[in-house]
Amino acid sequence: MPRILVLNGPNLGRLGSREPDVYGDQDLPALERLLNAEKDAATEIEVRQTDDEAELIRWIHAAVDSATPVILNPAAFTHYSYALRDAAAMLATAGVPLVEVHISNPHAREQFRHTSVISGVATGVIAGFGFDSYVLALAAIERRSR
Ligand code: DQA
Repeated sequence: MPRILVLNGPNLGRLGSREPDVYGDQDLPALERLLNAEKDAATEIEVRQTDDEAELIRWIHAAVDSATPVILNPAAFTHYSYALRDAAAMLATAGVPLVEVHISNPHAREQFRHTSVISGVATGVIAGFGFDSYVLALAAIERRSR
C-alpha cells in the first residue's frame, strides 16, 4: 500500500488557536481527517508534527531510507534551516517526491517569509490554499505514482 508522510514543523501543533485569521480555525486532527477523506483508497497517510528540528530531520532520513514520499510544511524552518534543506536534498537525490506546502501564502506576508531554503530541493511547492494546499499535494503525489 503506497504510504505518504505528512510532516509538520514548529507551532503547527497549535493550529486551531494560533493566528486563526492566517491559518484558519481547524486543528491538526481536522487536517488528518480531511486527508483521509480525500486520499485514494489504496494510499496510507501518516500525519506528524514536531517543534524539534532534529526530530524532523530524523523523520526525513527515515523517509529517504524507506523511499516514502513526503508532504512537508516546514513552518518557520522553511526560511532558515539549512540542516532541514540538506536532509530534504537527500529525498531529491533518491528520487523520492517531496512537496513543500504552506497554509498561508508566505509571499504575501512579511519579507522574511519570502525566502524558502527548502523549495530548491522540493519536487514542487503549494502555498496559500489553507488545508487544501495539503490536499493538492496529496493529489500531485498520487498522480505521479499511478
Ligand atoms: C507556514 C508559513 C510560515 O511562514 C510560518 O512560519 C508557519 C506556517 C504556513 O503554513 O503558512 O509556521 O509554513
